[in-house]
Amino acid sequence: MDRMLLASIIECRGAERFKLIADAAEDREIKSFYKKLWISEAKHGHIFVKFALNYWPEEDVYARLETLNEAEGEICEKLTWRPALH
Ligand SMILES: [Fe+2]
Repeated sequence: MDRMLLASIIECRGAERFKLIADAAEDREIKSFYKKLWISEAKHGHIFVKFALNYWPEEDVYARLETLNEAEGEICEKLTWRPALH
């Protein structure tokens, strides 16, 4: 379950970052390109949670996802900002 949920978190973080770029881009083609990547990454994030829901009860999956998201948030707060996808 952890591998699936960690993959979901990674994909969702990618989606967030691509959205930031899409929102900031002034060039229409660049904006469109990053918007497509953002949408694609968001779908990947959902797919991994759906995979997990095939194997474990919903309440267990979402409880674990919340725990992992909180841990990821604590880790990210300590990181130096840098231009990176993951
Ligand atoms: Fe992806």
